[in-house]
Amino acid sequence: MMKRPILIAASPNTQSDDIAIAFKGILQPWKWYEPAYTSELEARFALDFNSEAITFDSARSAFYAYLKTLDLEPDSEVILPGFSCMVVANAVLWAGLTPIFVDCNEVDYNYDRDDLKEKISERTRVIVLQHSFGFPENISKIRSLVGENVQIVEDLAHSLGGTSQEGRLGTLADAAIITFGIEKVISGVRGGMLLIRNEELAGKIREMRAKLPRFPFLKTFTALLNPLLWELIIPTYNLGVGKFTLGRMMTALFHALGLLGNMIETCEYKACKPNWLPSPISPILARLALNQYEKLEQLNKHRCEIVSIYLEELGIIDKKENNVFLRFPILVHDRCEVTAITKAQGIVLGDWYKSILYAPKSSLDGLKYVPGSCPNAEDFANKIVNLPTHIRLEPEQARNIAKLVKPYIL
Ligand SMILES: Cc1ncc(COP(=O)(O)O)c(C=O)c1O
Repeated sequence: MMKRPILIAASPNTQSDDIAIAFKGILQPWKWYEPAYTSELEARFALDFNSEAITFDSARSAFYAYLKTLDLEPDSEVILPGFSCMVVANAVLWAGLTPIFVDCNEVDYNYDRDDLKEKISERTRVIVLQHSFGFPENISKIRSLVGENVQIVEDLAHSLGGTSQEGRLGTLADAAIITFGIEKVISGVRGGMLLIRNEELAGKIREMRAKLPRFPFLKTFTALLNPLLWELIIPTYNLGVGKFTLGRMMTALFHALGLLGNMIETCEYKACKPNWLPSPISPILARLALNQYEKLEQLNKHRCEIVSIYLEELGIIDKKENNVFLRFPILVHDRCEVTAITKAQGIVLGDWYKSILYAPKSSLDGLKYVPGSCPNAEDFANKIVNLPTHIRLEPEQARNIAKLVKPYIL
């Protein structure tokens, strides 16, 4: 019997209840802009994180709105991880500020403290902490390095629901950004949020958001369609010969028809802001995100169980298994071969961050990345693979993945 493929990026958190909401959503377009969906999601986060919670179409837009509202001087600098995704850097550029990229360390892919110390300047106003893959950053140590006047923003893209010795991630700094993107901890297909404790700033950000046009209708439609299409694609992904499989052909067709949507638009690769950004979250997508949020504990418990299998099978003893890993990162030699042998078994591993800022080389200049300025990140980009931890991955499959990658681990 053909085994169900494991595709780390293909709507990995979606379960039958999410599909039902998306399907019902498509049939009831008159409910797409129901404001109660948005306010319910915001109220839940506000309560749980003891914070103002303001949704947008994405985390990049939430961060952009935050930076604009801080009203910083034009030469202000924002410190960001180089081992990350370009969309966060774009938000900085769109706000007319300067991104400064800091290298990562080899233990947890968070900031290399020496590089950080060198790159803090009198123009530093904001620093983003990524909690890479789920490894928590130490916020008080970062605070002691940057001082009291720098805004610390936690990025919960990899770590929503995680905790550290300091407390619940997302409650430990001045603000936090959360993405509800399809591959993240919980998925509303597209969406994001800013958590902020300064009520005056929160008020200004809400005012700004109130003037924005609503999330596009067509993009709402494609976002709702997305998990349904993956339900068609995934079971048939390996049905066929070589690269000519039904699932792959459907993927190509749906992409060509624009039905799978784009998480990053073409102009963003040139650091340009699509004209519909920022926009408020699409309320029906907030409904999807809330449904996932209600399952956060279950999704993360599963992730922890899967990671404990990886740790055991791979004989890794120096990584804490009680972190919530969105994906479990390992460095390997001969990544091409690892990718090939896993693909041959219908397993597509993750490739964050296979290039600096997960961007093509041609984008780096526009993103203001100076080649050679994050040497660890540049090195790890050639060696990293991410093992899946998502809810549909069964323990036996995790064991098999670990066995396949073990001979290659560095
Ligand atoms: C680490 C990280 N932070 C933030 C974001 C931004 O999320 P969004 O796609 O909602 O803008 C991403 C997106 O891919 C990401 O990888």
